[in-house]
Amino acid sequence: QKFDNQTCNPLKNAYSINQLKGVQLSNGKTINLKKFNQGDFKFNVNANSPSKNSNSIINNSFKNSNGKHMKNGKSSINIRKNTKDLLKHRKALPIYDVRKDLLSYLKKGDTNILIGETGSGKTTQVPQFLYEEMMLNKGSVVITQPRRVAAISMATRVAEEAGTELGEIVGYSVRFEEMISDRTKIKFATDGMLLREAMLDPLLKRYSWIILDEAHERTVNTDILFGIVKRAQKIRKEKGKSPLHILVMSATMNAQKFSSYFNDCPMLMAEGREHKLEILFTAEKSDDYIIACLSTVIKIHKQAPVTHGILVFLTGQEEIDNACLALSKIIKRCNYLAPIKISPLYSALPQHLQMEVFQPSDTEERHVIFSTNIAETSVTIPGIRYVIDSGKAKIRTYNPSSGFDILKVRQISQAQAWQRAGRAGREGPGSCYHAYTEAQYKKMPIMPAPEIHRTNLATVVLQLLTVGVKDVINFDFMDRPRQEYLLNAVEQLLSLEAAEKDSNGELRLTEEGKKMAAFPLDPKYAKILLMGPKYKCTHEVLTIVAMLSGEQVNTVPSGKMRSVATARHRKFASVEGDHMTMLKIYQTFKASKKNKQWCHENFLNYRNLIYISAVRKQLSDICYKAGLKMLSCGENTDDVRRCLLTGLFTQVAELQADRKYLTLSNHDEAQIHPSSCLFSSRSPYLMYTEIITTSNAYMHGVSWVAPEWLYQVAPDYFRKHHIKADPAHYAK
Ligand code: CDP
Ligand code: MG
Repeated sequence: QKFDNQTCNPLKNAYSINQLKGVQLSNGKTINLKKFNQGDFKFNVNANSPSKNSNSIINNSFKNSNGKHMKNGKSSINIRKNTKDLLKHRKALPIYDVRKDLLSYLKKGDTNILIGETGSGKTTQVPQFLYEEMMLNKGSVVITQPRRVAAISMATRVAEEAGTELGEIVGYSVRFEEMISDRTKIKFATDGMLLREAMLDPLLKRYSWIILDEAHERTVNTDILFGIVKRAQKIRKEKGKSPLHILVMSATMNAQKFSSYFNDCPMLMAEGREHKLEILFTAEKSDDYIIACLSTVIKIHKQAPVTHGILVFLTGQEEIDNACLALSKIIKRCNYLAPIKISPLYSALPQHLQMEVFQPSDTEERHVIFSTNIAETSVTIPGIRYVIDSGKAKIRTYNPSSGFDILKVRQISQAQAWQRAGRAGREGPGSCYHAYTEAQYKKMPIMPAPEIHRTNLATVVLQLLTVGVKDVINFDFMDRPRQEYLLNAVEQLLSLEAAEKDSNGELRLTEEGKKMAAFPLDPKYAKILLMGPKYKCTHEVLTIVAMLSGEQVNTVPSGKMRSVATARHRKFASVEGDHMTMLKIYQTFKASKKNKQWCHENFLNYRNLIYISAVRKQLSDICYKAGLKMLSCGENTDDVRRCLLTGLFTQVAELQADRKYLTLSNHDEAQIHPSSCLFSSRSPYLMYTEIITTSNAYMHGVSWVAPEWLYQVAPDYFRKHHIKADPAHYAK
C-alpha cells in the first residue's frame, strides 16, 4: 500500500476564519484564541506545518521514514503517574496557554461554543479550570460523552491530574455504574445518563455548568439534551434561580449552526496542537478495507519502534475478532516479525477488558488495537502513535417498517475521519493512515447526519414526554424531524396507551408509558413485554422480541445444501406462524445448551443466536426491575399471539374474496413472503412484523390471529377500520 502525504489538517482550506486575537507563546507555537464570525468550521493549521518543514515525517514512501520517527518521537511510552509530572504536562497543552482568555469569555456569557484541535486539552482541562477558578459556585460541572468508555477513562485521567481518588472531587456516571460522592464537583456522564437525570430534575439544578462535549456526533440523546439544557437555562433565569452555564465543545463541528441554535452565542476557538499529526491517504483505491488495514499494520510494524502502538478502526465485533485472529496468525507464521500484543475493543466486550486497553503497557511489545468507533472521539489510549482508519463504521438506521434499528456498514464522514486521526498525536507526534484515497475522502459527507433523522421517533417522543416536555411537536429541535413523522409518533403512543391527552388536550405519559420508556425498544415491542404477565407469557414474548431485534438466524446455503437446510428448518415450523417458529428455534437452541455444533447441523447462525440471548438477558433484567412477573404459558400458545397483538395490532392484514391480503391500516395489497412458514396457508387475519417492498410488497414474520382478538386488544382501533366480522358477534 502506498500512501500520499498530506499536510495537516486536510480540511483546513475549506473554511475561513476571522482572526481576532493572537497570543504568542514562549515555545514558539502560535496559539490563538479567536472568536469567529464567518465560516462554519474551524480546522486549524498544524503548529509545525509540514508544508513549511521539508523534513516531513513520512514522505510518499513511508519506508524511509523510520529514522525520522525515532528522532521525532520518544521511543518509550511515557507513564506519568505523579501529579507534578502531570501538572507539567497540563501546562504544555495548547488550551492551558489560553486559560485566562478562555475563562474571561466563559465568565461573560452564559452559553459558549469552544472549538479546539483534538488533543488540545478541552475535555481534561476546561472542567478543571472551572473548578480551580471557583467558577462552579455552589454547583458542579457535568461533562457529557457520547460513550461510556470515554466517560470512564476521561474521569480517571482528570482525577489523576487533580490528584484525587476517582469518585471524590472527580467522578463519572454511566448506565448501571456510578462513581460519585457528595463531594464530586466534576462529573463525566454519558449523554444518556444526563438525560435520565433530566427526567427526574428537568432544571438540572445540581449543576452550575453543563459541558456538552463531542457535540458534532449528534446522537439522539445529545440532540434532545440541547433542547433540555436550553430550556432549563431559560427557566432558571426567569425564575431567578442560580444561573446555568452551557458550553458546547468539539474539534470538528459546525460552529455557526450551534451558535444560531443557542441564540447566537459566541464561538471560541483555541488554535494549535501539542504534537504533530501526519495525515496520509492511499495512493490507489483498495478493494478490501480489511486487507488494506492489516497490510498497513504489518508495514508499520516492520519499521516503527516497538513501543509505538497502532489503533485500527474497523466496523464490528465479528470483523474485529477475525482481524485479531488473522494478525496473530501472520505474526506466528512470519517468525522474523517481532511479537505483537493484540487487543479488540468494542461495546459488547466486558467492561474490564475494554478498560484494559487504557492501561499503559508493561511489556516491550507493540500494542495493536482493533476497535469500533467507540474509541473514535475523546479518548487517549496510552502508546498510540499510529491510527489506521478503514473509513467505515456500523451506523444505526431505523427501519420504519419493522420498528427496529439496524446496524449497517457505511462510510464515515470527514469529521469522523478527522476524529479518528486525532487519536494519534496525543502523547507525541503521530500519523493517521486512511485506507482510502484523498478523492474518496473528499466525496465523504462533511458531518455525520444527525441520528434523530434516522431513528425511531416514537421512542424520541416517549423520551421527551418522560422529561416533561408537553408540546413535543414544537420542541426546540436543532434539526426538526418532519411534522407528519412526529404526529405519527404521537398517534402511535396514544394508540399504545403509552400517552393520553388530559382535559386541556395536552399530551401526558400514562403509568404504562413510563414503564415503556425504560426499554431500549420501539414502544410497540415494549408494550408487548409489559403485557407478558397479563397473558401469562413473559418468557415467551421476551424470546420472540429478542429474536426480532437480532439478525436472521436461518442460514440459507446455495447449491445442493439448500434443500437440506430447508428440510432442517422445516422441523421448527409452526402452524401458528413465524413468531412461534422463532420461539421453537430459540427454545431448542437453549435446550442444546447453546451448542455451536447443533447450530451448524441445523443451519442456524450461532453468533446471531448468542447475540439474541444477550439481548434477551438485557430485556429480562429491565422487566425484572419494572417488577413484571416472569410467567410462562406452556402449551397455551394462543396467548402468546394475543400478547404480540397488543403491540402489533396496527400491522394486520385481511384475506379478501380473491385470496389476496389487504392491510387493515392502509388497504394496501401485501403478500406473504415465500420464506414464511404460512406461505401457502390462507387464514382470514394475519399479523406481520414488517412489510418489505421489492418487486411486490411482502409481509415478513407472519402469524395468524383470530378476529375476536382484534376487538379485545384494541376495540377503538378496529371499530374505526370496520373489519368484516361483526364486533357484537365476538363479544367476550
Ligand atoms: O479533548 P481534547 O481532545 O482537546 O484533549 P484531552 O482529551 O483533554 O487531552 C489532552 C491531552 O492530555 C492528550 O493529548 C494527551 O496528551 C493527554 N491525555 C493523556 O495523556 N491521557 C489521558 N487519559 C487523557 C489525556
Ligand atoms: Mg475531548
